[in-house]
Amino acid sequence: MNRLAGRTALVTGGASGIGQGIAIAFAAEGADVVIADRASEAPATVEGVRTQGREALFVETDVSDEAQVQRMATAAIDRFGRVDILVNNAGIFSESLLEDMSAAEWDRVLKTNLRSVFLCTRALIGPMLERGDGRIINIASQLGQIGGVSAVHYSASKAGVIGFTTALAREVSSRGVLVNAIAPGPIETPLLENETEAWRSAKLAELPIGRFGRVTEVTPTAVLLASAEGSYYVGQTLGPNGGDVML
Ligand SMILES: NC(=O)c1ccc[n+]([C@@H]2O[C@H](COP(=O)([O-])OP(=O)(O)OC[C@H]3O[C@@H](n4cnc5c(N)ncnc54)[C@H](O)[C@@H]3O)[C@@H](O)[C@H]2O)c1
Repeated sequence: MNRLAGRTALVTGGASGIGQGIAIAFAAEGADVVIADRASEAPATVEGVRTQGREALFVETDVSDEAQVQRMATAAIDRFGRVDILVNNAGIFSESLLEDMSAAEWDRVLKTNLRSVFLCTRALIGPMLERGDGRIINIASQLGQIGGVSAVHYSASKAGVIGFTTALAREVSSRGVLVNAIAPGPIETPLLENETEAWRSAKLAELPIGRFGRVTEVTPTAVLLASAEGSYYVGQTLGPNGGDVML
């Protein structure tokens, strides 16, 4: 407990699923939390953070939009003075065979899942570098490592997140900002609820652990990477994935 006392975190996509879980887990460790989401509100997350005795600020933001991301960063700094931990978590999934995929759908997924990581990181890393202190945690996916059928756009976006993570880690870790990624396996969230029954049973059959994961099985990895205990992780992709990927 209190591993993040005195820290301020910003979690994108914090209205739901993994982002919501990370926001509340961070608050339980003593952090104040900014929740940025394209949803118009995030009452469960805000309430969850406040229940831990920490402050929450919700900022409605489309993280793929440059101007909105700038406004998000300004709102966070105005309220808390700084952001110590950025979690680039917002993301979308959709399924389409390559031959049926429109360029618009490719762009939508890449913008939401990858451009957003660039925009949010660029908006918040400056003061971290000036202080010589900061953590950036990017939520990738195991599909960025092994690929997923009907998901070239999603898989490419998440592989891009991993490439972004390693490149930026090389660029900034000597200046005190540690950048890492988490590549979860299939986790029970609203994102997974959109999957077809056929996909779910095929995935369950090939998963070594034989079940989908829970949000609470991802959040401890985020706490580790955000805390003093994570001080020697640089450019890593950690995989709470039920054995879907074994490196
Ligand atoms: N659930 C899984 O099985 C799984 C597995 C691997 C990786 N992930 C990744 O974890 C992250 C969180 O996914 P989740 O499962 O919690 O999904 P989720 O749908 O429950 O939550 C995603 C959140 O992101 C927000 N969001 C989407 N587009 C946005 C945008 N343009 N601007 C701001 N907010 C936006 C949504 O409103 C939502 O609150 C995603 O990046 C996803 O790709 C999920």
